[in-house]
Amino acid sequence: MLLLTWYITGAMDIGLWPPHNHRSNKLQLSFPPHPPRPPPSSPAQFKRFCSIGALVRLLIPRDAAHSSTPAPHCSPTPTSLLLLLKAVVNEMLPNTELYSPAIEVDPAMYDEEDLGYESALSGYDSDTMCIASTMNEYLLENGRLYHTYYGPDKNILPLDEIEQDRMDLCHDIFNLMLEGLHLAPVESPTRILDVGTGTGVWAIQVAEEYPQAEVIGMDLSPIQREWVPPNCRFEVDDAERDFTYQRNSFDLVHVRNLGQCIDDWERLMSEIYQCTKPGGYIEWCELGGTCHSDDNTLADNNPTKLWFDCMVRAVAMLGRPASITHILMHDFLERAGFVDIEVAQYKHPLAPWPKDKRLKQIGAMNLIAGVTGYHAYGMALFTRVLGFHSDMADKICRDCQVAQFDKSAHIYTFYYVVYARKPTRDEAAANAH
Ligand SMILES: C[S@@+](CC[C@H](N)C(=O)[O-])C[C@H]1O[C@@H](n2cnc3c(N)ncnc32)[C@H](O)[C@@H]1O
Repeated sequence: MLLLTWYITGAMDIGLWPPHNHRSNKLQLSFPPHPPRPPPSSPAQFKRFCSIGALVRLLIPRDAAHSSTPAPHCSPTPTSLLLLLKAVVNEMLPNTELYSPAIEVDPAMYDEEDLGYESALSGYDSDTMCIASTMNEYLLENGRLYHTYYGPDKNILPLDEIEQDRMDLCHDIFNLMLEGLHLAPVESPTRILDVGTGTGVWAIQVAEEYPQAEVIGMDLSPIQREWVPPNCRFEVDDAERDFTYQRNSFDLVHVRNLGQCIDDWERLMSEIYQCTKPGGYIEWCELGGTCHSDDNTLADNNPTKLWFDCMVRAVAMLGRPASITHILMHDFLERAGFVDIEVAQYKHPLAPWPKDKRLKQIGAMNLIAGVTGYHAYGMALFTRVLGFHSDMADKICRDCQVAQFDKSAHIYTFYYVVYARKPTRDEAAANAH
């Protein structure tokens, strides 16, 4: 009931409720820009606004959200598990098989009275903000807004406020996973590019971390926040076209979760290589396209498997890499000319079943992100590409989402972070001889 209330309030916000026609399908819409909400009035409020996405909108109705008590900040705690992982990863390069220790299941979760994961989910809070848009041509399909300006299948994820909330939440999840904004060892950067920046939350936080750097976030859609640090700006562009950025100019280029959207990774990596400074870094992060359990609790008939299988099939039918792995990422970076390629592989629990506190928190956040996430990734691909009726596509996504509440299945996917350095001028000259 709470989720329904949340969905309806969110849908009313963007003019989707009552639904025009939920079963089908395509309707071209032109929306006036959203009136921006007032800016955050204090640094603390700004931080909070930048943080945790909009978890609370996923848990409680909008009015209640504003009166709730402040959330505990989810500051990552270093654990020996991840340090061990990193060390092992470094040791094993360039081996393609990365060792990931099994995640221990929390036995205490079975003692809780709740049937699902309610107690593990309590305590998150955040705010949201609307973005004014100048390129306000969208496609309304199955109740969600999609990008059309550079082509309808460019971004197969929606871009509405519901999706923006999910992107911000995922940003917090990845921060928690990495214990920071990036792994690449950049020092005093002066120019940073975020390709496919989404809401721009990574670019904004990186601009705060490096106030001396000029940070540019680039995306197909102008969905970024208006209130940004003075050293951060956003541009609308298609990353698959020729880059207009100055050659050899960025200390760090960041690419995160564009997996299902890019036709030609080789070309994109070559463009990124051109605009990276000699000695500068690329950092590329992707979620894997497969699901796993360490203790055989992921049965073959688990709906999560069907959802992942459909995803992989649909992406392959679009002619894009069906399942991006660290092997593929390593390969693309090497072919572009990058050196010192480092690979990190993280287990990414889909629910709060792990015993480890930080992984449990990540699982809890993933469970919430999944409330809209499986639909966000699945609906366009399953209906447009696989040709499923929207009811069937909806069922596959919904079943997968509900399956994550089953405490007996301890499911995770992989999160890959690969970073690499562009050779210095001296190194390039030496290699040329
Ligand atoms: C899943 S979101 C990830 C957003 C952001 N990188 C993050 O991790 O928070 C994918 C984003 O990539 C953008 N995108 C997809 N294809 C793109 C392209 N060809 N050029 C620029 N942006 C693109 C989409 O518009 C969307 O905002």
